[in-house]
Amino acid sequence: MSAKILIVDDDLESLKLVGLMLQSRGYDIIAARSGLQALSKAADQMPDLVILDVMMPGMDGLEVCRRLRAHPATADAPIIMFTAKSQVEDKVAGLKAGADEYLTKPIHPTELLTRVEVLLARMGRPAARPTMALKADVIGFLGCKGGVGTSTLAINMAVALARERAKEEKVMLAEFRNGLTTLAMQLGLQPRDSLQTLAEHEVNDLNSEVVMAQMDRHNTGVMVLGGALAPLAASAPLDVPHVEAVMRALGGIARYLLVDMGVGLGEINQTILRMCDYVLVVVEPQRVALRLAESLLASLDELEIGRHRVGVAMVHKTASAATLTKGVVEEALQREVVGMVPPAPELAFHAADQGQPMVLLQPESLAARQLTELAEYLVGR
Ligand SMILES: Nc1ncnc2c1ncn2[C@@H]1O[C@H](COP(=O)(O)OP(=O)(O)OP(=O)(O)O)[C@@H](O)[C@H]1O
Ligand SMILES: [Mg+2]
Repeated sequence: MSAKILIVDDDLESLKLVGLMLQSRGYDIIAARSGLQALSKAADQMPDLVILDVMMPGMDGLEVCRRLRAHPATADAPIIMFTAKSQVEDKVAGLKAGADEYLTKPIHPTELLTRVEVLLARMGRPAARPTMALKADVIGFLGCKGGVGTSTLAINMAVALARERAKEEKVMLAEFRNGLTTLAMQLGLQPRDSLQTLAEHEVNDLNSEVVMAQMDRHNTGVMVLGGALAPLAASAPLDVPHVEAVMRALGGIARYLLVDMGVGLGEINQTILRMCDYVLVVVEPQRVALRLAESLLASLDELEIGRHRVGVAMVHKTASAATLTKGVVEEALQREVVGMVPPAPELAFHAADQGQPMVLLQPESLAARQLTELAEYLVGR
């Protein structure tokens, strides 16, 4: 069970902002828009922690704080005063009223989150639902639809990282789908039946050595785990426990583990998502793709993949005056576009033809430079 956090603020925007942020981290949220509502909800639902605005019409936060402290059901709950009032006297008044922390708006989400975590841990309260942390920085690439350039992006990120950033560090690139795979070929490697072979192992046997034996090494040093070319076996050959075990085996030894997730949010991709530190949603700047991206992002919210763990990358494939701009895409998706790849049909053609990622084939091209920049963003984020 997750910790319950009561957020009290008369300002709806502020309430939503903090509420969604904590919710996306797996906390259960109780919202109240006035002091009286806060007291009644607190008595009813006994929150594990309270975040309290000070200036509210009617009963102010200081009074709410005193009353929470006076009531046996809520006397021990940690209380964070979260307010625009930043004078020393204000802080003193807040702390005297019984607050454990006094934070001023605006605040960086990470700071607020850390205060919440620290206070809850001190109280021995349940934290947010745990995500599975691996040693590697795990980055997923998820297409809003097929063919938008998800694999191209994942491949170019992997080689860019191996080349620029992680010479001595292991960069791994994996996919868990079989059938219509292109990953190996786009890197000039032969597709083989690695996933099927791993599926035949017991889950408990899937250590790093066993998984690595099924991987191929690209000449940049990137280790690749891919599916076979077998249209009749187009579904994933690995079940959820196998995928989890393989991810854990690779995540234990890689520095960067990049996963080409293809499209969709089936149970395999949901499993991968839970193990990702960051997910890059790949979007083409046209209406249909954008509509699909919107619904995909809404589903990621529903799955409680924190928004700070999700970015959007735009891949232009054809130059058109009608193409949607970054601003339009950001407005429609309400997310930051963290990378843009310009149209490069000629280069993309030769890259596919020669099994050479764009960043290696023409490192000075605009597309390659944008891709390299995105790789830098991903590891520096
Ligand atoms: N910036 C670009 N400009 C022009 N064409 C591109 C660009 N990036 C990728 N392409 C081309 O788009 C096509 C689809 O790319 P890719 O295979 O990476 O997409 P995908 O989303 O992984 O597809 P799938 O759904 O089949 O897995 C390829 O032919 C690729 O060469
Ligand atoms: Mg692909």
